[in-house]
Amino acid sequence: MDYLKINKEAWDKRTKVHVDSKFYDVEAFKDGKTSLNTIELEQLGNVEGKTLLHLQCHFGQDTLSWARQGAKVTGVDLSTEAIEQANKLNSSLKLDARFIAQDIYQFGCENTEEFDFVFTSYGVLCWLHDLNHWAKIIASSLVAGGEFHLVEFHAFNDLLSGYSYFPQADPDVEDEGTYTENCDGTKSTMVTWAHSLSEIINALISADLTIESFKEYPYSPYNCFENLEHVTGKGFQMLHKGQHVPLLYSIKARKSAI
Ligand SMILES: C[S@@+](CC[C@H](N)C(=O)[O-])C[C@H]1O[C@@H](n2cnc3c(N)ncnc32)[C@H](O)[C@@H]1O
Repeated sequence: MDYLKINKEAWDKRTKVHVDSKFYDVEAFKDGKTSLNTIELEQLGNVEGKTLLHLQCHFGQDTLSWARQGAKVTGVDLSTEAIEQANKLNSSLKLDARFIAQDIYQFGCENTEEFDFVFTSYGVLCWLHDLNHWAKIIASSLVAGGEFHLVEFHAFNDLLSGYSYFPQADPDVEDEGTYTENCDGTKSTMVTWAHSLSEIINALISADLTIESFKEYPYSPYNCFENLEHVTGKGFQMLHKGQHVPLLYSIKARKSAI
């Protein structure tokens, strides 16, 4: 099974719909609204003058938001459609981001640059089959002392939706529509892998990255799952038997300074 071809086709199709969605609200973004959330803004802090590699950048709104904060940014994504849209946004906003259409594993084989920050967020890990390899790419893309930042949807929610929490020998292959409100006609086959929190954390440890922070959150800024309810001033929550389900987590890890 050519999982890269299948997922690229799905993300090319999704991107065409996403750029016109209220969910991504490209017009507000063009008018100056950041697409970044408080979690990642607070976690990365000041990026002014720093180099930042954004893995799985989709059509670049977050990458370009970091550029607006003063970072010198590079975004990588498998979807050629997403990178085309990212380049269009970059030109129309007169920013100087660089976007690369590539599988992150291929990027890792070819890249020789080192960045101050590596950032990746919200719906990224399920598309990757080998997290040990992923973590090694992150480590080799960082300068000595550089920081890795991940903000991701919590797999606890997948478990409650009937998906495996623990890694399986075979990927999940499913036809699914996208998560934006204009999702009619977006069904595509997609190939995904389950990753437990211990698998993710151990992959980073095995790549010699030091985990400096790990946080879990009961609220999400995104209304992209079933059974979420909005709480003013907090975001979206999910209750299971009256208790909060963890919806997000974040990790900050650092490459040794020596
Ligand atoms: C859910 S999106 C990331 C969300 C992003 N934070 C956003 O909303 O803008 C996942 C992205 O991963 C990309 N992707 C999937 N597999 C990939 C791979 N092997 N290498 C690079 N990018 C990949 C997809 O093309 C898609 O743009």
